[in-house]
Amino acid sequence: MLSLSIPVLASIAISIAIIYKFIFYPTFTSPLSKIPNAHWSSSISPFWILWSRYNCQENRRVHAAHLKHGSVVRLAPNELSVNDVGGLRTVYAGGFEKGQWYSIFDNYGVPCMFSSWHSRTHSARKRMISNIYSKSNIHSSTALAEQAKVILYGRLLPIISSISDSARSADGIDVHDVWNATTMDFITAYQFGLKNGSNFLNNEPYRRHWFGLYHSRKTYTFFSQELPRLSRFLKHFYINLTPTWVDDANRELEAWTKDRCDATSVYVNAGAAAKDSDPANEPVVFGSLLSGIEKEEKKGSESVLSNTTLRYPEASIASEMIDHLAAGHETSGITMTYLSWHLSQDIALQDTLRKELLTLSPNMLLSSSSEKNIPSSKDLDALPVLHAVLMETLRLRAAIPGGQPRMTPYPSCSLGPFTDIPGGVRVGAQAHSVHRNAEVYPEPEKWDYMRWMGAENGYSEEQKRERDRHFWAFSSGGRMCVGSNFAMFELKLIVGAVYSNFRTYIVDDEGIEQTDGYTCGPASNKLFLSFERVVEQP
Ligand code: HEM
Ligand SMILES: *[C@@H]1O[C@H](CO)[C@@H](O)[C@H](O)[C@H]1NC(C)=O
Ligand SMILES: *[C@@H]1O[C@H](CO)[C@@H](O)[C@H](O)[C@H]1NC(C)=O
Ligand SMILES: *[C@@H]1O[C@H](CO)[C@@H](O)[C@H](O)[C@H]1NC(C)=O
Repeated sequence: MLSLSIPVLASIAISIAIIYKFIFYPTFTSPLSKIPNAHWSSSISPFWILWSRYNCQENRRVHAAHLKHGSVVRLAPNELSVNDVGGLRTVYAGGFEKGQWYSIFDNYGVPCMFSSWHSRTHSARKRMISNIYSKSNIHSSTALAEQAKVILYGRLLPIISSISDSARSADGIDVHDVWNATTMDFITAYQFGLKNGSNFLNNEPYRRHWFGLYHSRKTYTFFSQELPRLSRFLKHFYINLTPTWVDDANRELEAWTKDRCDATSVYVNAGAAAKDSDPANEPVVFGSLLSGIEKEEKKGSESVLSNTTLRYPEASIASEMIDHLAAGHETSGITMTYLSWHLSQDIALQDTLRKELLTLSPNMLLSSSSEKNIPSSKDLDALPVLHAVLMETLRLRAAIPGGQPRMTPYPSCSLGPFTDIPGGVRVGAQAHSVHRNAEVYPEPEKWDYMRWMGAENGYSEEQKRERDRHFWAFSSGGRMCVGSNFAMFELKLIVGAVYSNFRTYIVDDEGIEQTDGYTCGPASNKLFLSFERVVEQP
């Protein structure tokens, strides 16, 4: 008879328990085990998805997994991905909460709306600003219209005119940089008022410095976002997975934003006599936050924000402001870059677009004798080609193509055919996949603005409905992009101003392919186009 000593028996028992918990249970027994694995190791280890993320391969690999295995896939023992409308409805319209993943978007050590973990704190913050970003407000805002006038006619078009007329014009300019500056000036003007916002268009050295700081932090979010516990643990041993200059860059961007806030605050608190009558100087977003916090303060300790936003109101306003200017300029800048790149490949389409733009009244021609004004949002929205080229760019080159993780609610939920999914499981969708559904968008890799046109594109009503239901560039549900109406209006105005007056040609588009990650622009971080003033009018 074989006799085993107690230590041997104990270690066998422990081994069996470990094998059960970490291999057998997740692979065979867990309710998640019925969901197809993206990679053979997905049920027992997060290594594959972490490695894909670290190497900037996540979007394409997750997409490949969906093509192979269907609309719900398991990426890791505790992580899922969905890519159909049913999944979007359950997760995003269903209000699944965000998790710690978004905490790196806290600024000054306090949360903003975007980084809010729970729905309750998120809603309280959203109440303070959603009104000023609503479609009706964006479209009727005198402040925004006046700001747009100065930015387009006073800054952007003179810059483009001068390069198109100069001998250097054949070398072109880096439009990614110029569009970045334009969208930055737009959003900060709306936030702080024109005078306290940025003037990046006219300050090239400083904006390069600023964008440089912003860009330098990008590759270093992996450890704090994906492995927060490991990062904190190693910090105890003075091992910092994020270089200290990333912290320095963050501090400088925070200090810059805080300066805008302080200047705006001085202006807002000055007596009525000190205020100027120019509506462009109204700090719309800042003002809305101030009064929102005032209202919330009436609730006292009852407020869900009592120990954050209400306790640190100044830092909280600044945190919100830096988030909007970051979320606002980068995404829109990327969209403009790809839109101008696609248009530059099709001069005939530019001419069609120009013809359409010149039907606006007032139009945006530099040579027109009437006073420069911006067209009404209603008229802009009624231009089908303008709308279609923008939508198709947002589809194929979504500026946030990457996963938007949420957490499954307790105690459990269902996703499509899969039931009993426990709470606390990370689940997300990515626009990169949702926008590449070949049944909805035939030949999905092709940039084809005709998909978004009216009767002439041959789509049935049902196909159009599906097309619209799958458009996900701004996410969906309670936490979808609060700035989507701002972005659409601003982008249509920029395209309108530029293409009413100029033709663009590609000079250098090397590295234009989109990176793989969360927010993604051209791999080379540049695009050189040349501009030609259109003299003859169609
Ligand atoms: C083409 C331009 C834009 C695109 C493609 C875009 C896309 C998105 C997406 C996909 C989300 C959800 C992200 C997630 O949950 O992980 C989001 C959220 C957000 N976006 Fe945008 N965005 C754009 C422009 C803007 C602008 C101009 C602003 C200006 C304020 C803005 C402010 C925000 C904010 C504050 C949130 C968080 C909303 C919340 O948590 O309630 N975005 N955006
Ligand atoms: C454009 O803006 C993004 C976000 O600030 C930045 O990462 C990138 O470097 C900028 N690119 C250029 C060419 O200015
Ligand atoms: C902020 O804006 C106000 C009003 O437009 C202006 O008077 C003031 O000089 C600005 N402050 C700074 C620091 O630019
Ligand atoms: C703030 O309050 C919330 C509940 O309202 C609580 O979950 C959280 O732990 C508190 N945070 C701090 C830093 O006290």
